[in-house]
Amino acid sequence: MDVSAMLEQYAYPETTPWLRANMIASLDGGIQYQGSTSALGYAGDWALMQRLRTLADVVIMGATTVREYGTYPAEASKLAIVSRSLRLDFDGPLFTEAPSPPVVITCGAAPAERLREAEKRAEVIVCGGDSTDMGMALQRLADKGYQRQLCEGGPVVLAQIAAAGWLHELCLTLSPVITAGDAARVLDGPVIDMQRMELCHAIQDENYLFLRYRMAQG
Ligand SMILES: NC(=O)c1ccc[n+]([C@@H]2O[C@H](COP(=O)([O-])OP(=O)(O)OC[C@H]3O[C@@H](n4cnc5c(N)ncnc54)[C@H](OP(=O)(O)O)[C@@H]3O)[C@@H](O)[C@H]2O)c1
Repeated sequence: MDVSAMLEQYAYPETTPWLRANMIASLDGGIQYQGSTSALGYAGDWALMQRLRTLADVVIMGATTVREYGTYPAEASKLAIVSRSLRLDFDGPLFTEAPSPPVVITCGAAPAERLREAEKRAEVIVCGGDSTDMGMALQRLADKGYQRQLCEGGPVVLAQIAAAGWLHELCLTLSPVITAGDAARVLDGPVIDMQRMELCHAIQDENYLFLRYRMAQG
């Protein structure tokens, strides 16, 4: 797969701010197989994910995803982590080796001591009381100049982004496997007002399908 040629089809639109999500799912809609997301992917999907990061001003992830992945390439766009508990390794490479400090998005319910730790190592955005107000937090990111936003999940964070009306685009890689089981769907949260999407493209590579949908106009 020629990822460089493919990337031309992923230019961000002029409209800002713009939030794109990039996810992979099995044909029956699961985001993992036996607890592993990478089991669904292959080298092509991995390469595209890396390159999509370079198009964005900021890459947003939920804390569970960050804790599971453990690393984030220093040369990629700025990382923003959503967390209430702030149970993050502030002394680890994610914070100490990043060329510019990550953003931590949290809420009033964050433990005060962890918040002080976060403020030493990160740009901190506090929005909302018991829970981060996702729409407000994304607007705060945009106001800081992070207009081209990329969310790599997980499904709990993504569902709240959609509920806030900020899921402008969904890039979904369909993995050619059927898994059943109890894996989460791409969005994991309470039902929202149905949001219609329109297909921008569908690119096939091997048996994988790269779908790019954007919010339907009007
Ligand atoms: N297939 C795919 O494309 C894909 C993509 C990404 C991830 N995944 C998989 O998805 C799994 C994790 O996804 P997930 O949906 O369970 O978790 P997640 O969205 O990655 O993170 C959830 C965490 O984010 C924080 N959070 C979420 N909403 C918040 C709010 N309103 N206010 C404050 N903090 C908030 C909380 O962190 P604290 O616990 O720190 O408070 C919460 O526990 C992983 O196993 C990963 O491998 C799959």
